[in-house]
Amino acid sequence: MTVSQQVFLRDAMRRLNLTRDVFAARIGVKRRALDTWLLPEGSQEFRTMPEVVSRFVTEIVQNEGLLQKYAQSAQSGPLRDRIAYHGKHQLLSVDQFTRESVEDLFRIADQMQPIARRQKVSRVLEGAVLGNLFFEASTRTRVSFGAAFCRLGGSVCDTTGFTFSSMAKGESIYDTSRVMSGYVDAMVIRHPEKGSVAEFAQATNIPVVNGGDGPGEHPSQALLDLYTILTEFSRLGKLLDGAHIALVGDLKYGRTVHSLIKLLALYRGLKFTLIAPHGLEMPEYILEETGKHGHTIIQSSSLEEGLVGADVIYATRVQKERFAAEELEGYTPDFQVNKAIIDKCCGPDVIVMHPLPRDSREGAHDLSVDLNHDTRLAIFRQTDNGIPVRMAIFAVLLGVEGLVQHSLRDVTWSPPSHIGPDDSILHDMD
Ligand code: CP
Repeated sequence: MTVSQQVFLRDAMRRLNLTRDVFAARIGVKRRALDTWLLPEGSQEFRTMPEVVSRFVTEIVQNEGLLQKYAQSAQSGPLRDRIAYHGKHQLLSVDQFTRESVEDLFRIADQMQPIARRQKVSRVLEGAVLGNLFFEASTRTRVSFGAAFCRLGGSVCDTTGFTFSSMAKGESIYDTSRVMSGYVDAMVIRHPEKGSVAEFAQATNIPVVNGGDGPGEHPSQALLDLYTILTEFSRLGKLLDGAHIALVGDLKYGRTVHSLIKLLALYRGLKFTLIAPHGLEMPEYILEETGKHGHTIIQSSSLEEGLVGADVIYATRVQKERFAAEELEGYTPDFQVNKAIIDKCCGPDVIVMHPLPRDSREGAHDLSVDLNHDTRLAIFRQTDNGIPVRMAIFAVLLGVEGLVQHSLRDVTWSPPSHIGPDDSILHDMD
């Protein structure tokens, strides 16, 4: 086996689209045994899977692969060519993905987990430089893209805000992008205008990643969100096909939900409940696009009604910076996702997500902090997943994903076993 046992098994379950229970039954082992084989190698409970099981799983996947081969003839060639944007190795929209290519990316993200969890190091991007150009506020996207690049051995140069960029002197997007291309090997760009990152991308042949273009898209956030949902569902023994996803809050200006709903629409038979105050509903063009895939879409302005039976609650912040305060009506305390409403409307295996930042100020009605110690709250597992997913994006766009596995070395320092003082027992469990 050229990849770790965890990567191998997770990939097999994804390809076969089986829950852990069904997969365990299919390969004739107890669910408990499978759970121990799926743990990260450093965990106390980790066990090595017998060789005969590994051979059997390989055989099942290969047989399944033969059956799927004719149905998916388009699925061939390097991943970066399959997801290319106008022939360039750039990531501007989730529209670039199919279900197969997104799951191929997640297989690479799984391989990055030992690096993200600080057990291994890799230098596959040694010598490469990332340009992080952020013309809007950011903590997660800017720092996690930078950290992901560094953890693959590269280094980062960045500029934040218009004030410290020559755009403040009237420089065009074209000139900025072309100049940066002479300095760096890849760029991540966040900009307040929808479509602006595509303009940067047109002016260069180096990989460009959209780190958020106004109310447009935030593809890497949606990818890490989907990766989180699939990881959490795997632990819970659920499949994404047929799940009930509730998206809550500012669905008009929230770019993360625009990308996420399109990505989720690649799966089958989903029920989306879209819960937004009047005036902040999901744009019509996205509803039309999602509807074409045959999913059920329910729009509601009642949190209590909309959350009933949800498998995932994805709360979002009201993007006050994108509209005048007087336009905001009806965003009352009833819109706050908190422990009381989740206990009332949802089961014990719901997962609560948020792209963050959440607005914790008085009167913001954003996701409550009273869920902080609740294992259903997945927000920090979600942010942690930003690193392996963004490492996978860079590895694919720069064409080094095939080098990662053999480049791994043990870390020389000792990271804490839990990086957050309040991390739930589910942290680092897969
Ligand atoms: N989720 C997200 O985009 O966070 P930042 O604005 O901090 O990058």
